[in-house]
Amino acid sequence: VAKLQFPRHILHVDQFDRTHVDRLFAHARAMRSVAKIPGEGRLRGHILATLFFEPSTRTRLSFESAMLRLGGQVISAESADITSSAVKGETIEDTVRIVESYADAIVIRHPKSGIPDAAAAVASVPILNAGDGPGEHPTQALLDLFTISEELGRIDNLTITLAGDLRYGRAPRSLAMLLTRTDGCRVILSTPAGIEMSEDVLASLSAAGVTFEVEPDMVVAAAQSDVVYVTRVQKERFPSEDAYQQARGSYHFTDLHLAAMKPDSIVMHPLPRVDEIAGNVDADPRAAYFRQARYGVYIRMALLDILLGSGGGTIA
Ligand code: NCD
Repeated sequence: VAKLQFPRHILHVDQFDRTHVDRLFAHARAMRSVAKIPGEGRLRGHILATLFFEPSTRTRLSFESAMLRLGGQVISAESADITSSAVKGETIEDTVRIVESYADAIVIRHPKSGIPDAAAAVASVPILNAGDGPGEHPTQALLDLFTISEELGRIDNLTITLAGDLRYGRAPRSLAMLLTRTDGCRVILSTPAGIEMSEDVLASLSAAGVTFEVEPDMVVAAAQSDVVYVTRVQKERFPSEDAYQQARGSYHFTDLHLAAMKPDSIVMHPLPRVDEIAGNVDADPRAAYFRQARYGVYIRMALLDILLGSGGGTIA
């Protein structure tokens, strides 16, 4: 097979077509065995910088773990919103111009949509969007679809319920957009009033021929689904405390929903969970959310290896 040029920066889901997705997943599968030999050294001598202007546990640690497992090294500004020079008024462009002297790729999470694009516009090293406000979370979407692929053996002809806060959640937004790269999938949107999926995403689904329907009753949705993807109410993004209080606690995934689901289906969640999934769901083998975090390491290893490794930005 001919080598495929990969996007230089990872900013938006729409940079990836189906061929990118298939090749990336194949590469991520190969990363499983690399992950068991720490310091095998594919990225020895490379440095990754992680700049997080918003809270995170798994996204930052998962990128850092991925880099270390590839034999590279990591420098990190956690809570950059309070500890970095941004506090002194430095622009993201200036921050990037400096950090690219220290690192070979930069992962950025920021509360404002579009900041990773602004960074990429001036950067001479790859920029990876690790979540830009309510905008996008492309590496999460890729790992979510990879989880589906590994758990169910396919990414086409599936019924996928996106549940919860679809308005402010960048994870379900990005996953929905990535589903436009699949064939024959049907999306069920199960969400309380006020936090429905935005029109821009629905328009993308329609344009790509992905059928979707709204089903507020999560039991009815779960019964028909191969995947139920539950999300957290994005408290930090609500315009007012009132609006948040209204959405808060308006949905719970419990053993009732699980009982309605098919035996070969899965429950996913990007995490962190607050109270959207009852704790007793965890023990069921269909609860895939902790495994999902592990698939994330393989996807991020694959992305870093493609961007920084000997392929020079191409993928076999
Ligand atoms: C998500 C995020 O930050 O958008 N978390 C993550 O990266 N796994 C989801 C969330 O915060 O609810």
